[in-house]
Amino acid sequence: MRLERGPALAGLFFLLWAAAAIAQGDAKRGEYLSKAGGCLGCHTEERKDAAPYAGGRALKTPFGTFYGPNITPHPQAGIGRWSFADFARALREGERPDGAHYFPALPYASFTRISNADLRDLWAYLRTLKPVAQPSKPHDLGVLYRWRFALWGWKWLFFAPGEFRPDAAKSAVVNRGAYLAQALGHCSECHTPRNLLGGPKKHRYLAGAKLGEDTSAPNLTPTHLKKYGDGELKDILQSGLFPDGDVMGDTMSEVVRNTTSQLSAQDLDALIAYLRSLPALPGEPK
Ligand code: HEC
Ligand code: HEC
Repeated sequence: MRLERGPALAGLFFLLWAAAAIAQGDAKRGEYLSKAGGCLGCHTEERKDAAPYAGGRALKTPFGTFYGPNITPHPQAGIGRWSFADFARALREGERPDGAHYFPALPYASFTRISNADLRDLWAYLRTLKPVAQPSKPHDLGVLYRWRFALWGWKWLFFAPGEFRPDAAKSAVVNRGAYLAQALGHCSECHTPRNLLGGPKKHRYLAGAKLGEDTSAPNLTPTHLKKYGDGELKDILQSGLFPDGDVMGDTMSEVVRNTTSQLSAQDLDALIAYLRSLPALPGEPK
């Protein structure tokens, strides 16, 4: 019997190629996901010719100032020596390669919901960045908040690791929007109020929160957002301008610039469909 070698081999090579492509992730998709996750903003210094993803961005919180670290593939200054498993562990479990806990200033309470396939693509993208030799800056935290080991308590109370699970009772579009809001977009990190220990008040999910003296993230449930039509909401999330011409404050303007204005039309529609599907909660008492 003669074997049909040609087609069999071609088939085998195709399978090997496909398996390698899946294992390596797709950097182009990863770049898009990085936008949807707002990685650039927190990992790039706020000055004109700052090297992207090379760290140094100051993130002021009530606990002190965090500095987004260098996540370019530089072997010493960045994460060039990391494996994919190290990366997945950081975002999924909030753990450093040496087992120490990350501060939730890296929003892993949200990023833990990112799918495995998307983690692969994000990783593939980060590997394509230019390695930058700029060392990460140490955080500048209040005395009480310096100890990473104390974070196990916060994690034990508030952190439930695990991939996003679609809700079978909802449409594919609403589930896509839920994924974008909960996993990548981490909207609840600002729009859900926190309790005294810094954990999110789950029963007030996306119902608005005070972020500082004069900054509040408004209620994103239909109680408040119903005042905008879908087209208006889309404009707000693409332009950072309100229908009356008002400009958005700095915090959300940055989210719009780095994230929501970068979403595909389809994804933006899904995000809005998801917000429309939330239970209508009353706003935060003033
Ligand atoms: C809201 C700000 C913020 C966003 C958004 C953010 N990060 Fe970070 N990230 C941080 C901070 C702060 C740390 C350091 C945490 C610590 O030291 O405990 C960090 C740490 C990391 C680390 C570990 C680096 C190291 O040297 O240990 C990786 C990897 C990382 N982020 C990747 C990402 C990716 C990928 C995204 C987008 C999906 C992202 N980050 C989005 C703030 C952010
Ligand atoms: C870093 C904090 C932060 C994150 C993350 C964030 N927001 Fe906001 N958002 C704000 C603040 C602060 C405002 C208030 C802006 C103002 O009134 O000028 C706001 C305003 C808004 C508004 C305008 C509502 C209104 O009527 O004033 C919408 C819509 C919105 N955010 C949606 C989102 C969505 C969707 C996400 C996730 C993709 C998100 N935000 C993530 C802080 C944040």
